[in-house]
Parts: sequence; structure tokens; C-alpha cells
Amino acid sequence: MRKKLVAGNWKMHGSLLDNDTLLNALNKGIAVLGNEANCAVCVPYPYLAMVQSKLQGTNIKWGAQNVSQHEKGAYTGEVSAVMLNDFNCTYVIVGHSERRMLYGESNQVVAEKYLTAQKHKLVPILCVGETLEQRDSDTTEQIIEEQVNAVLALAGVDSLSNAVIAYEPVWAIGTGKTATPQQAQDIHHFIRQGIAKQNAEVAAGVTVLYGGSVKANNAAELFAMPDIDGGLIGGASLIADDFIAICKAAHS
Ligand code: 13P
Repeated sequence: MRKKLVAGNWKMHGSLLDNDTLLNALNKGIAVLGNEANCAVCVPYPYLAMVQSKLQGTNIKWGAQNVSQHEKGAYTGEVSAVMLNDFNCTYVIVGHSERRMLYGESNQVVAEKYLTAQKHKLVPILCVGETLEQRDSDTTEQIIEEQVNAVLALAGVDSLSNAVIAYEPVWAIGTGKTATPQQAQDIHHFIRQGIAKQNAEVAAGVTVLYGGSVKANNAAELFAMPDIDGGLIGGASLIADDFIAICKAAHS
């Protein structure tokens, strides 16, 4: 049985004041849910110290939204995996579609980030997903396969024992257009099948999240699908009641 995970991706949102209110509410609302599922928040770098101090000892884990593929050096503006370890991050998102599209991260760069994260004992949340054009031109499976295979080629299939995959169709992110549970399930199944060709046991154990307009009112039906192991939540992770409700859906 795979344990479900709900991870919030705050993106570039938050302030010391707003975070304080949000984290207090999450602490209260998620503490009572128990440990049947995992909950986490992935926050902007400047707030890692804050989430570390407010969440340590709770059942909410935390992480970052990006990491450098390099260990250290003259890389102005970048943040290393070692630095994330200083703040006891559990997770780091790699290859979010916003990073791929707005910052030109290629499959190769994403694979390198994944590898570096794992080397430093962070659990990478590898995002994959197709654009609307790619879906319309029937290349969804090919795109996803290339995105996953770039990582497997560099890090090996066994690396997925300590990683999470998030299927996030680009057309569903921030648009209010959720993939139907069946559409998401089909791709999750495709991803798992692809991994199973290399290692059936790893494929059966890997956590595959769905992301893209997951809300309090659609989380339960998405999470009920056999290959959907939770969600990566953008907008709704900034609203305490909504995020708690989504975490609750993963516990039932
Ligand atoms: P939304 O939940 O706002 O659609 O964002 C999804 C996402 O990109 C999470 O990484």
C-alpha cells in the first residue's frame, strides 16, 4: 500500500505575516489527521527557516521549489542541496513546468537537479506534464516518457524508491481546468507501466501525485483513482481550510 502525499507548492507567494497565520492554521488542522498520509509544504527559499521553526515536531514536512544541479560555486542566485539540508528540508520540487517553460530548464538539467537532490538525501518531486498543444497533437505520452526517461537514464530506475513523481498537465495548472480523474489516472497508469518495464517492484511502490487545479471539492475523487497517490497543490495550498480539506481527503 502506497502512502498518500499532499504537497503544497506555494510558488512565489507568501510573507512573514501571511505565512505565520497560514502555518498556525495548518498546524492545528493537520495535527488531528494523524499519519496515515503525508502532508508537506514547498515554500520560497527565504521562508525555509520559518517553516523549519514552525513545523519541526509536527506531522507536516517541508521543502523547496527548486535546487541547483551544482554542488557549490560561482552560480549567482542559485541555492544548493546542501543549503536545503541546513533547513532540514525533506522534499524539493524539480522540473516544475514553470521552471521548464519560463527558465528554460531542459530534461537534462532537470535530471541533473534530481540527481543532486538525491545525492544529498532530499526527496525530489519530479514534475512532468504536457502542454495543451501537445495533448491536442496526441503527443502526451511521448512527452511524459521523454521527461521520465531523461531522469531514469541519469539516475537509474532504483532512484525512484526515494523520489516522487508529479503529473501536472500544463493546461490544468492555475486554470481551474482539472484533468478528469480518468484522464489523470490514464497518465498515471502510463507512467507506472513505463517504470515497470525496468523494475516492477519500484513501479508498484513509487508515489505518483496529480497536480493542476486540485481543490477541496475535487481532491477526493482524484485521490480515489488506483494510480493517484495524492496531489501537488498550487493555489489551494495558500488557503488553510482548503489545504486542510485536501489533506483530509488523502487520509480517507
Ligand atoms: P494549481 O493547483 O494552482 O493549479 O497549481 C498546480 C501546480 O502547479 C502545483 O505545482
